[in-house]
Amino acid sequence: MAAVAPLLRTRELSKRFDGVVAVDSVDFSLARNEIRAVIGPNGAGKTTLVSLICGRHTPSSGQITFEGQDITRLKPWTRATNGIVYTFQVTSIYKTLSCYENVALAVQKAIVRNPWSRLFGSESKISEGVWTALDEAGFSGMSDRIAGELSYGHQRMLEVAMTLSLHPKLLILDEPTQGLAQAEIDDLCTRVRRIAEKVTVLIIEHNMPVVLDLAETITVMDNGQIIAEGSPYEIENNPLVQEAYLGH
Ligand SMILES: Nc1ncnc2c1ncn2[C@@H]1O[C@H](COP(=O)(O)OP(=O)(O)OP(=O)(O)O)[C@@H](O)[C@H]1O
Ligand SMILES: [Mg+2]
Repeated sequence: MAAVAPLLRTRELSKRFDGVVAVDSVDFSLARNEIRAVIGPNGAGKTTLVSLICGRHTPSSGQITFEGQDITRLKPWTRATNGIVYTFQVTSIYKTLSCYENVALAVQKAIVRNPWSRLFGSESKISEGVWTALDEAGFSGMSDRIAGELSYGHQRMLEVAMTLSLHPKLLILDEPTQGLAQAEIDDLCTRVRRIAEKVTVLIIEHNMPVVLDLAETITVMDNGQIIAEGSPYEIENNPLVQEAYLGH
């Protein structure tokens, strides 16, 4: 039987910043519909890896394919309309606008950047897309709430709702639980699990209970390289992983 093609694959992907090799010849692949966690000590290269995947950084060498297409040189907004979206901080929400308006603006921005994207359509079609994204992120009853008045946890989830309106196939979350209270973390995990029924999720996370709760497979980075990959049990018992954490 032929192997199922991965959704995303990187081959010998590297990124150098002056003297630092932040990502060092990384071969990484992601299957459709999985929740994958990427962990590793500070400075391991996790954010740089996902920045290369979403197009925020251009690689020094190597290749990235998404659904079998070479996307290595595509601009970030083209990748976003192809289905790769990335949330990393709250700064992109408009604090004086409502949740509905924030998501509607995200859709509008995507259309302006790429008028031929599959988001293009009548106003009612756009509004339908906004409501679907709000619902998927668990905001149906909060659409009129002003973003700046939401808890920090909800502000982060609102950003996820904004990215969901772009109909992603791959949602990348970089440390989504940072700065959240425990109740907000539990809520975020529930929402992410629900989103993952339809969307592949790649999550960078330092909070191990969250990683173990969400991910079936964990990838561990250290010094720009993948040093281990496996089930939570395999990773917890891997001596290389223990050494990487203890060494820092
Ligand atoms: N824009 C940049 N310019 C120069 N060096 C950078 C840049 N971005 C990252 N680096 C360096 O690349 C290495 C990897 O950084 P990266 O942010 O990818 O790590 P990380 O695993 O996400 O760490 P953390 O867990 O602290 O977020 C670090 O040595 C960092 O200082
Ligand atoms: Mg980081």
